[in-house]
Amino acid sequence: MTSPPGGPPAGLRHAEAARLAEASATQAPAAQAGLSHIWLPYTQMGVEPPPVMVAGTSGVRLHLADGRELIDGVASWWTACHGYNHPHIVTAIEEQARAMPHVMFGGLVHDGALRLADRLAALAPGGAGRVFFSDSGSTAVEVALKMALQYWVNRGVKGRTKFVCFRGAYHGDTMAAMSVSDDAGFAAAFVGALPDQLRLDLPRGELGCADYAAMLDAHRGSLAGVIFEPSVQGAGGMLFHDGETVRAVVEEAQARDLPVIADEIFTGFHRTGPLFACAEAGVVPDILCLGKGLTGGALGMGATVAQPHVFDAFLGDDLATAFMHGPTFMANPLACAAANASLDLFESEPRAAGVRAIEAALRDGLAPARTRPGVVDVRVRGAIGVVELDDLPLDRLYRLRAAFVECGLWVRPFGRIVYLTPAFVIGKDDLAALTDGICRVLTEA
Ligand SMILES: Cc1ncc(COP(=O)(O)O)c(C=O)c1O
Repeated sequence: MTSPPGGPPAGLRHAEAARLAEASATQAPAAQAGLSHIWLPYTQMGVEPPPVMVAGTSGVRLHLADGRELIDGVASWWTACHGYNHPHIVTAIEEQARAMPHVMFGGLVHDGALRLADRLAALAPGGAGRVFFSDSGSTAVEVALKMALQYWVNRGVKGRTKFVCFRGAYHGDTMAAMSVSDDAGFAAAFVGALPDQLRLDLPRGELGCADYAAMLDAHRGSLAGVIFEPSVQGAGGMLFHDGETVRAVVEEAQARDLPVIADEIFTGFHRTGPLFACAEAGVVPDILCLGKGLTGGALGMGATVAQPHVFDAFLGDDLATAFMHGPTFMANPLACAAANASLDLFESEPRAAGVRAIEAALRDGLAPARTRPGVVDVRVRGAIGVVELDDLPLDRLYRLRAAFVECGLWVRPFGRIVYLTPAFVIGKDDLAALTDGICRVLTEA
């Protein structure tokens, strides 16, 4: 990909950069106040218009510092699946904060973590895994990669150091996670410094599967495992693939005794419809990564769930075979409380039905976008709606983002896509405002 859908903006031509810098400098100075020392994510700080100041959240709304309200179509990077400030989650966090905001997880455990591990192990495909907690999606992926590497070391097999990964993938911003992500996307600037991995297209159809199988065979002696995002490659451009591809990725690898890491940090917890995309495809990955919606979007947390045969490879009487990883804020009690409360809501509220209703509304609501100028695809899966454009140069990207805010909507296009990943509790009218707004803004801006 020359200009990956999920990647950072392609380099600015001089004239365009100068024009954008000028436009940015003429933004209301008040809007720029307080920004002198902050460094923002995925942001060309030289030219990007100032960010939107948010003062509060509730349900599916962002309350801005200037008194305006936005309907949120993104759910804070797909995390706030029950809506913002859900009272059940907020109460759980408040109670936990009074009892024990944090305690180290080395040598000490607490009920919230043990209960959460039991529940996640039972829910995850396979139903009997071991849960290792960390503090974000990227760290859940780092943990998974390290588990797969040490799995071989502990079994006395040397040289298993490489992963098979896929074009269009995004697994996070830490070094190893970048190494298994698309090398033309967010990780592009760091490619030379990252471990080399084996990258190919996701296996689609007979030919794709044959290529994949051939790669697994050719590199068998050096492979530690395979990593992929089942069903939807998220930040790589919201690219969909079907259950057959999911099964091919998992089954071809497992037939060769290679551990498969399924990164369901985006797809997990009903985002694509089922609780987990792997379960829907009928496969059990050796290692599963969770994050994002795990805490209902209230606090950062990652979880890596290993199947028993992976865990067993770390058992013995020598510390050298123990898993040598332990983030300071691992199993943070506040995050565990939020995650347990989020799981309560998944159990007690009709989230799967909510996602089905959202899927139908996204299909209807985004269909007219097909005829808008520059639109090359409209696709929907679960609570993910995507409008893909043929091109989205930086100045139009900024214009689109501003136009959505003008319409009272929080929609944040990136790469070449405009997308919606709303909270599962979003009402019909708010969802219609988002889909109508996208169709309108794409015509006007
Ligand atoms: C599939 C996937 N894996 C990993 C990550 C990284 O998660 P985090 O941003 O919490 O580190 C993301 C984030 O978007 C993701 O979508």
